Amino acid sequence: MGFYADQVFPRLMDWTLGARRFQEYRQQVLAQVGGTVLEIGFGTGLNLPHYPKTVSSLTALEPAILLPHTVTRRLSEGSLMVEIVRVSAEAMPFEAGRFDWVVSTWTLCTIPDAVAALREVRRVLKPGGRFVFLEHGRSDDARVAKWQDLLNPLQRIIACGCNLNRPIGALIAKGGLKVKRLDRFRLPYVPRIAGEMYRGVAVPAPTKD
Ligand SMILES: C[S@@+](CC[C@H](N)C(=O)[O-])C[C@H]1O[C@@H](n2cnc3c(N)ncnc32)[C@H](O)[C@@H]1O
Repeated sequence: MGFYADQVFPRLMDWTLGARRFQEYRQQVLAQVGGTVLEIGFGTGLNLPHYPKTVSSLTALEPAILLPHTVTRRLSEGSLMVEIVRVSAEAMPFEAGRFDWVVSTWTLCTIPDAVAALREVRRVLKPGGRFVFLEHGRSDDARVAKWQDLLNPLQRIIACGCNLNRPIGALIAKGGLKVKRLDRFRLPYVPRIAGEMYRGVAVPAPTKD
């Protein structure tokens, strides 16, 4: 990690993903969660104000230390019990079936092995638990997807490992989850290469014996 990754990018990320209209999307997807919740790729805690009172505990998984003063302030502004766990989502230190909900917002683009992380999501969800996601990814429009493929190597450098072209729905299925609801939409005022959104809910897929 250098100066850009430690100091510059986290501020850019917090400013960009903290935009008011993004807060509205966060609010919409998080309104449904409750009980024991795991958030993967907690980042700078932008989801914190949007967790409803039905959440009994939040486990915030985040391997990087990003804007620690900002995170401490956001934690102190709420009453939610939060445990921050500094590990990668590909290998979680939680017992199977621990969480009612797992949350991922703008994170599956960046986790190096997203399928391994999703398999872990499946493992740590309770039977009947749900995975809620709000992610940008690969466009269904072949012309846009071509630009996403072309610009992805550059994006990975300037956005610290973020990929423009991941097919989020397919990755979730590969991770052993069944998508119950999927909304595709475009973020207004954002170039299509970065603004093709996947929002929805998935559940652990039945195992094949
Ligand atoms: C674009 S940021 C999004 C942050 C936050 N989810 C949000 O909605 O504002 C992607 C996040 O994924 C985290 N991340 C990267 N690799 C990860 C991994 N292997 N496991 C879990 N999180 C990871 C990054 O540190 C970063 O906080």
